[in-house]
Amino acid sequence: MNQPATEQPSVIYLKDYEAPAFLVEQTDLRFELEEEQTLVRSQVRYSRNPGCVSRQRPLVLDGHESLELQRLSIDGEVLSAQDYRREGEQLVIPDLPDSFTLECVTRIEPQNNTALEGLYKSDGMFCTQCEAEGFRRITFYQDRPDVMGLFETTIVADKQRYPVLLSNGNLVDGGDEEGGKHWVRWQDPFPKPAYLFALVGGDLEYVEDRYTTCSGRQIALKIFAEAKDLDKLEYAMTSLKQSMQWDEQVYGREYDLDIFMIVAVDFFNMGAMENKGLNIFNTSCVLAHPKTTVDTGFQRVEGVVAHEYFHNWSGNRVTCRDWFQLSLKEGFTVFRDAEFSADMNSRTVKRIEDVTLLRTAQFAEDAGPMAHPVRPASFIEISNFYTLTVYEKGCEVVRMLRTLLGAETFRKGSDLYFDRHDGQAVTTDDFVQAMADASGRDMSRFKLWYSQSGTPQLSISGEYDAEHQRYTLHMHQSCPASADMATKQPFLIPVAVGLLDPQGGEIPLNDGATTEVLELIAAEQSFVFENIPVEPIPSLLRDFSAPVKLQFPYSSEQLVFLMQHDSDGFNRWDAAQQLAVGIMSGLIGDYQQGRELRLEPALIRAYEQVLSNQGLDKAMVAKVLTLPTEAYLSELAEEIDVDAIYSVRRFVRETIAAALAPVFLQVYHDNNLVEEYSPDAASVARRSLKNLALAYLMATGKEDYLMLAQQQFDEADNMTDSQAALTLIVHSEHRQAASVVLESFYQRWQNESLVVNQWLGVQASDPTAGALMRVQALLEHPAYDSTNPNKIRALIAVFCAQNILNFHNSDGSGYRFLADQIIVLNTQNPQIASRLLTPLTRWRKYPAERSALMKAELERISVSGNLSRDVFEVLSKSLA
Ligand code: PHE
Ligand code: ZN
Repeated sequence: MNQPATEQPSVIYLKDYEAPAFLVEQTDLRFELEEEQTLVRSQVRYSRNPGCVSRQRPLVLDGHESLELQRLSIDGEVLSAQDYRREGEQLVIPDLPDSFTLECVTRIEPQNNTALEGLYKSDGMFCTQCEAEGFRRITFYQDRPDVMGLFETTIVADKQRYPVLLSNGNLVDGGDEEGGKHWVRWQDPFPKPAYLFALVGGDLEYVEDRYTTCSGRQIALKIFAEAKDLDKLEYAMTSLKQSMQWDEQVYGREYDLDIFMIVAVDFFNMGAMENKGLNIFNTSCVLAHPKTTVDTGFQRVEGVVAHEYFHNWSGNRVTCRDWFQLSLKEGFTVFRDAEFSADMNSRTVKRIEDVTLLRTAQFAEDAGPMAHPVRPASFIEISNFYTLTVYEKGCEVVRMLRTLLGAETFRKGSDLYFDRHDGQAVTTDDFVQAMADASGRDMSRFKLWYSQSGTPQLSISGEYDAEHQRYTLHMHQSCPASADMATKQPFLIPVAVGLLDPQGGEIPLNDGATTEVLELIAAEQSFVFENIPVEPIPSLLRDFSAPVKLQFPYSSEQLVFLMQHDSDGFNRWDAAQQLAVGIMSGLIGDYQQGRELRLEPALIRAYEQVLSNQGLDKAMVAKVLTLPTEAYLSELAEEIDVDAIYSVRRFVRETIAAALAPVFLQVYHDNNLVEEYSPDAASVARRSLKNLALAYLMATGKEDYLMLAQQQFDEADNMTDSQAALTLIVHSEHRQAASVVLESFYQRWQNESLVVNQWLGVQASDPTAGALMRVQALLEHPAYDSTNPNKIRALIAVFCAQNILNFHNSDGSGYRFLADQIIVLNTQNPQIASRLLTPLTRWRKYPAERSALMKAELERISVSGNLSRDVFEVLSKSLA
């Protein structure tokens, strides 16, 4: 009676951190990979941690319910059941000497591992995913990042089925065994935590290249994939070599092993993983070919290859003390990969894309029930904290450090950080301290960015004193309460500012430069500029110098002026966004009041001017002419009126299209060149502008343009153009044409899994009526696989996150559909189930009826029984 029905998962707090009782010197692993089972023998050399106060503490090893313990021995003596105890999923061994070797044999079933954590099978190939806590599903271990040691891994498997056997480090030995088996041994000379362990066994092929490092060392580079995908690895290889060179030039970081490997797998919960010397990638983040991959796909491959490679220093050589410090490696590494991509392509366009993601998805996270600081203070399930806040806001925090210190001092700080902490597991405080020491600045106030959640709001007003030629900016900052934190102290906000004269020229500021970084530290503060001869128009928060919501009372005319004259490319784009946001917000009000919608000419005129300005970068033109997304408008809204947002955006798009159709047609033809596909920035820009023009043309609803889209679909020699045309036709009212192109696309690409995912996604995001029924039918389609995360994302996640009209159908059918899927996935793959919940967690932002329907589905999931920790945490926080 007094036993609770289900054990409530416990909360883990940063403040409870304790150093491990034992240190690990050496871990020897032996895997026997078989069809029905895998036997894992681990031999671990432990010694008491001198840094740990209590000498009595037992050895506590993490495990998992799926682990079958077969044997445990210490220094060769087998332990009996009285010598240790199981506490939940942990194994506790008391009364141990100061140093000893523990041998542990476990039996696992990777072939039945649908969670894709630990050792599992992807398309018949063995692979691992150990971050954050997957290693404990392989063997009993102190599975925490501050336990670092050397690994040696022996793998035995059938030679025919699994000719390729890989692990971290260098291949040191191997040979054949009887029964058609073979074995290999890998040694990793660098100490690492268990989350960076990796193993792969399969029938793989590879492409090979080499790289000579700055000190003249030769590195072998190998990228493995299934034979059919071998022709899609060239771009990843090029990106890898560029990343290696960039990290030498920009951060002074040289690669450390003699070999670097990447393996492409089809079943993967995330994008990719930085295991030491053996990165494992979701196929979607490494395979690229013009015929099958869109431009944004190429850019993603380039960015993710770089990201994982950069982790070799920011993550592997210097790792995290505990998982609360996740942003130490993720925020910094996202910053590094963003700068790399900016250097490889258009810097401003990259910045616009990153800020767009931050302002839509991360700001929404800050405003929702899962809000947490960049360095969370507590969690139930760490997998739930691989978030936009930890990654993207974490990146912004590192960017602010560079803005405040300047590039040169920032580099000194990163050198000091790597030098001081090489081989250690450290904290975000250690990172900031290195920056503080390198610059001689006290950075304590800055650390609030790591410990306080929420999006700060910054209101600015300007005051001009003509008599004294003085311009003053009055700033006010505040940060609304978040789900996890009620009150906040003022942040240190770097506000990059420029002042424009009425001709659009830049006015020299106090130190003669045209951009000055003001440091706002109080809730209320004013900044004075002297010798300002005319009343200026300020350009604020240049290059988005801080992750805040900015308010300044600009008029439409001033925004148009900034669009044309601001020397800061990001702010030129942002002025266009804010102009459109202002107009659309007004129209949303009109829609709700039942007033007729009318688009004032300012936006059309501004767009027309941008289109006719030949000097502009085409990628920028395409960005400027892209209306604020439904997701961004939803984030900005007090209460999300789905119908109003959708209808207004559509109305504005159609009105612009009707007004500017001839111009768009000209732009289309001007940029529709016959040329060989190349993913370089200029070609990508041309295609993005062309396809943007086609989208506006299709928005007119005219048959002529449907024919143009069909022609592009039929004639395209690359996936970017083909998919753009497909999407436009499928999302149009031309239903007959839609089914024709869908069918022909599937016939052509049915054997290319990643292309089929795009085909699923196009249908899932189709805003026309009846989309849910079509999505449900696709769940039964042979192309769908309910155990493959990429398929789940393409169909279910895209429907729920991007198809706002159909997902938020007022009959609640979209919500019910999602809840049904989550209930199944909760047991099958908790990480994916928990991520899929996101749209429902925002229920409080919707009007009463929809809100109640959403909440009811959350409640239905919560009583469906046997909730995973992942789903439990998100549900309980959402319903709190
Ligand atoms: N560490 C990986 C990255 O950011 C992400 C990841 C986390 C992958 C957890 C798998 C599991 O590069
Ligand atoms: Zn990462």
